Formats: sequence, C-alpha cells, structure tokens
Amino acid sequence: MGLIMKYKGIIFDLDGVLCHTDRFHYEAWSIIADKLHVHFDEQVNNLLRGVSRMESLDRILRNYTGEPLSDERKIELATEKNENYREKLMDMSPSDLSKEAENVIDYVQKNGIKMAIGSSSKNAKLILDRIGITDRFDAIADGNHITHSKPDPEVFLLAAEMLKLPPSECLVVEDAEAGAEAAEAGGFDCAGLGDANNVETVKYKLAALGDLVDVLSPEV
Ligand code: BG6
Ligand code: MG
Repeated sequence: MGLIMKYKGIIFDLDGVLCHTDRFHYEAWSIIADKLHVHFDEQVNNLLRGVSRMESLDRILRNYTGEPLSDERKIELATEKNENYREKLMDMSPSDLSKEAENVIDYVQKNGIKMAIGSSSKNAKLILDRIGITDRFDAIADGNHITHSKPDPEVFLLAAEMLKLPPSECLVVEDAEAGAEAAEAGGFDCAGLGDANNVETVKYKLAALGDLVDVLSPEV
C-alpha cells in the first residue's frame, strides 16, 4: 500500500509562487502611474498581489489627485498596462522555471497528489505555456473563470471542484495576503510565502517554496 499523504490536492498560486512575474507587473504599472502622476513604489505594488487587474488599478488610484477618470479611460489604462506586461511575458522561457519550483512539482506528482493552479491572472495560461509546465497540472483555474478575485475564495473553490476534491483535502500555496485570506475563507489550509505569512491563519509559514516538501511528507 502507498504512503498516506496529508493532502490529496495542492492548489498553487502562480505569480510569486511558481514564477516571478512580480517585477514585470511592477514595471508595467509604473508606466501607468507615471502617466497619471501617481506615487507608486514597492509598498503600493505589494497591495496588488493576488488582486485582479481592475482592482489593482483602483488601488493605485487611491493616491490619485487629478481629474476624475471615466470607466472607459480606466479600461484603456488597464489594457495598456496589460499590453506592456504581455510583451515582457513573451521573453519568458522554460529557463525561467526555477530548479526549486521544478523539484516541488516533481515531488508532488511523484507522490500522487493532484495539482492545480488557482490564480487571479488572466495571463496564467500564457505564463504556464512560456515556462513549459501547462501539462503538469490536473486543473487550471484563473482570472478568466471567476467574477470575484482574491480575497474571495472563488478561484480556489473552482480549482478544488475541478480536482474533484473538497477544500479540506487540499492545500493552497500563496504569497499574497489576499490569497491567504481567500484560502481561509474557502476552508483550505494554506502554506504561505512572503507577505502571505502576515496572515494569522496561515498554517505553514514557509521560508522558501522548497520547504513545501517537508510539509507534505507522509503521515506515519
Ligand atoms: C495575480 C497577481 O496573480 O494576477 C496580481 O498577483 C495581478 O498582481 C493579477 O494583478 C491579475 O493579473 P492579470 O495578468 O490578469 O493582469
Ligand atoms: Mg501571487
């Protein structure tokens, strides 16, 4: 009989967990912020982790003091940001998948644990394709499939449903506070990285993604 693993499914956030697109988001939003003469720095950027594109723009605009912007203009700005961001994504390749992330994916798969992506991004599939790991996942739930982004649990609940597992049998891996809150709201245990570890309910506070292997070690 095989070993009994603690979780039957792992739902990975993508940006900031399996790959590092944070810098690209930052650079693309910086251009928009400069255009609007809005202050933008790493701290503001951290508030955008895990939240949707339009909600990210709204958060940037909290510091905006210029003429009111119409909804059409906001969509234009978000579209411009996305075009710029996607240009940067096109430079990604399988060499942007870290050895650490690859080892974790291998470990999870080898132990018969199902794997899903639970990402707020509408570009998740493009990123997975660029770094060459789309086929490693049993399910991909992303920003195209949901109406409420993190901290709402919708994307994780959808990923669990796609895996045909209840939340109690899945572990969410997140780097964003909004993502850790979403995991809690959906009834999932959460393994946190970086900012996510500011959230009290995070069960496993990881120093690095590779530490996930210890969390998943079989029950004896
Ligand atoms: C999340 C990122 O994964 O996706 C956020 O952490 C981003 O920073 C969100 O705003 C939406 O991404 P996209 O690619 O749909 O603009
Ligand atoms: Mg993230």
